[in-house]
Amino acid sequence: MAKDYCVLGIESSCDETGVALVRVSGAGLPVLLAHALYSQIEMHQAYGGVVPELASRDHIRRVLPLTQEVLREAGQTLQDVDVVAFTRGPGLAGALLVGAGVACALGASLGKPVLGVHHLEGHLLSPFLSADPPEFPFVALLVSGGHTQLMRVDGVGCYQILGETIDDAAGEAFDKSAKLLGLGYPGGPALSKLAEIGNPAAFKLPRPLLHSDNLDFSFAGLKTAVMVQAKKLAAAQNCTAEALTHVVLADLAASTQAAIVEVLVKKSLAALLATGLQRLVVAGGVGANRSLRAQLSRVCTQRGVRVHYPELHLCTDNGAMIAMAAAMRLQSGIQVADEVYAFDVKPRWPLDAIQAPGA
Ligand code: KG4
Ligand code: ZN
Repeated sequence: MAKDYCVLGIESSCDETGVALVRVSGAGLPVLLAHALYSQIEMHQAYGGVVPELASRDHIRRVLPLTQEVLREAGQTLQDVDVVAFTRGPGLAGALLVGAGVACALGASLGKPVLGVHHLEGHLLSPFLSADPPEFPFVALLVSGGHTQLMRVDGVGCYQILGETIDDAAGEAFDKSAKLLGLGYPGGPALSKLAEIGNPAAFKLPRPLLHSDNLDFSFAGLKTAVMVQAKKLAAAQNCTAEALTHVVLADLAASTQAAIVEVLVKKSLAALLATGLQRLVVAGGVGANRSLRAQLSRVCTQRGVRVHYPELHLCTDNGAMIAMAAAMRLQSGIQVADEVYAFDVKPRWPLDAIQAPGA
């Protein structure tokens, strides 16, 4: 690989089409030149969740115009792209195939190599795009729509899972509770917005596995508790859960958020204690949650722990994190880009399967 090169990143694993261009110069942190995102939220809203077939079709419509937009904004042309990276998995198979197909077609037509990236590694390394990038090693709290994991990260490709959810992810707990409360999709941002005006101590909801002697999580019971509480309140008011008053819904939302956040914060602290590390990195969509950020920042400051987040707009899915993860993999020499354009995607793909050799 030349000393200086550009990596184009394409994300299409779920309901966001993201494209970005980063420049690698020697051993310095790769720099984001431009990125563009198209969110399908409005399209899926009518169905109350992501419809995979519609998602794939929409990625097809968006990916090339977004690529042109990114190149224009970066003042580059397709010929300036040295490597094309795409999300290989995990995610929706059809949606992943769109990014993989376009990346391989671009690579083959330009005579440039392609690199399939792990979506969660993208999230994990996204704080390196922030104004306050972390340094290795650190504990990572990865909280997305489908995953909740605590990890020890010693370098690119050196990931040791310390604990993870045994059922629902934190993002799912937000989304499913929000749905029960009639807040629609995507539930996390809606629930956290409503929670801002609610009382987090209004309802006593369970903190699953809070005192377990490991670093695992369990959030499935929480949504059941929210449902039971909502039904009880609705029966008392002789209405449906969705028709509860705004004040009651806000209190329920705030109590739900408080339960999720407390577990995430306490387990993160336990992971820091167990590893002896003094640095925490938060990544994934739930990392955008204001209450989580405020509480983590407060307890970490008290303990002299540095905490790093992705920029708010790069917490949820985007192309920048895919370009960045590819660039950092190439830079660290643990992976070379491939000139065989076989677009195999991995809808199910554990993060520790991409461990660097010898890690
Ligand atoms: O990382 P992400 O964009 O997608 C996956 O890789 O899964 O995460 C999406 C998840 C959804 O569950 C969404 O509800 C949640 O992140 N989320 C939030 C917030 N913004 C997004 N959850 C709580 N508070 C937020 N502000
Ligand atoms: Zn994601």
